[in-house]
Amino acid sequence: MYKPPFMPIPPGKSLAGKTVLVTGGNSGLGLEFARQALTLNASHVIVTVRSQAKGDAAIATLRANQEVQATNPDARLEYFLLDLDDYKSGLELVQKVYAEVPELDIILCNAGTNFFNYETSKSGHERLMQVICYTHFLIVLSLFPLMQRTAAKRGSPTRVTFLSSYSHVRHTLETNPIAADESVIAHYDNIKKYVSGKRYQDGKLVINAFVQHLATIVPSSEVIVNCVCPGIVATDINQNLPLWIKPFMCVFFKIKARPVTEGGRVLVRAAVVVGEESHGKYLQTGEIHRGAEFLAQPAGKHFIKKFWAEIVADIGKVNPEVKVRLERQINQKGLKGQPLARTVVSAG
Ligand SMILES: NC(=O)c1ccc[n+]([C@@H]2O[C@H](COP(=O)([O-])OP(=O)(O)OC[C@H]3O[C@@H](n4cnc5c(N)ncnc54)[C@H](OP(=O)(O)O)[C@@H]3O)[C@@H](O)[C@H]2O)c1
Repeated sequence: MYKPPFMPIPPGKSLAGKTVLVTGGNSGLGLEFARQALTLNASHVIVTVRSQAKGDAAIATLRANQEVQATNPDARLEYFLLDLDDYKSGLELVQKVYAEVPELDIILCNAGTNFFNYETSKSGHERLMQVICYTHFLIVLSLFPLMQRTAAKRGSPTRVTFLSSYSHVRHTLETNPIAADESVIAHYDNIKKYVSGKRYQDGKLVINAFVQHLATIVPSSEVIVNCVCPGIVATDINQNLPLWIKPFMCVFFKIKARPVTEGGRVLVRAAVVVGEESHGKYLQTGEIHRGAEFLAQPAGKHFIKKFWAEIVADIGKVNPEVKVRLERQINQKGLKGQPLARTVVSAG
């Protein structure tokens, strides 16, 4: 069995008084991150799930955990429904958060899956991109005003962490490039350009690209944005892979995977422990890492800008407030690096 390096959380780290939102909080890394946030004394933990039954089970598991019972039995703990396959569900989550959650300190965009066949999401995009990228981006951009208000109240930055994966370095953009006159989102939606078994890697590259750009428009003094690969972790992530590949993955994970408690600790490091130096960065397990060279090259920088403009426009069709707010900010000369909270149109 693989022996991971021990990555301790510095003593004294506390989430007392803080509110944490975790997507995909009913299993694997999301459930474990919620558990560890509770043991760090988080006052309010919200896990998103796809059904009431999964929500009830997640809350019962967390409440029954001995460490949680010993350290933080009175935390407010609840689930909100979210199906990332559908922008509409993402928007409903945002509306519920604005209606019921006055302060939001940490968002962990964790939910994810992997499959090898082209499928179309409820919102009309290629499904894996919708689930791991686009709906998460809608949620984060929509909740930014709340995160900024919370940061202003606390006098310290709030945080958004995305789950990436080292596999993003094996993306397809160099072997299957996007034509100059082709839209990025249309490229990923085009079944003829779909490379089976590679979409997960592409999705994780897009997460890194989004994080890099987002960090250029929000100062780390307000919201620290980063992404992390937890390493190979023993979870259900391979459950939707084709039958023929499952035995290989099973053996590979048996040899290589770290336990979920260790994976959860990597996420705590990224979302709680590391500081402003991680803004816009990719962390490989606990450390800042360059990630895919492609994103540092001119073609990669062009890709990041092009994708950003397209995703803001796409999200703007679902939540126009986001597009108006971001365009206003871009149009304000000399704004880059200035505190965003003074310029945003307040949402919710
Ligand atoms: N495990 C690893 O080795 C590894 C390595 C690198 C990165 N990661 C990343 O870590 C994250 C967590 O995965 P995991 O390993 O903990 O796998 P997991 O145990 O399968 O958990 C995935 C979570 O995502 C949720 N989810 C899937 N599709 C969803 C959708 N359409 N809408 C809302 N929620 C959805 C699942 O909910 P349901 O129960 O309803 O399906 C579940 O809660 C993923 O982003 C994954 O890419 C994992």
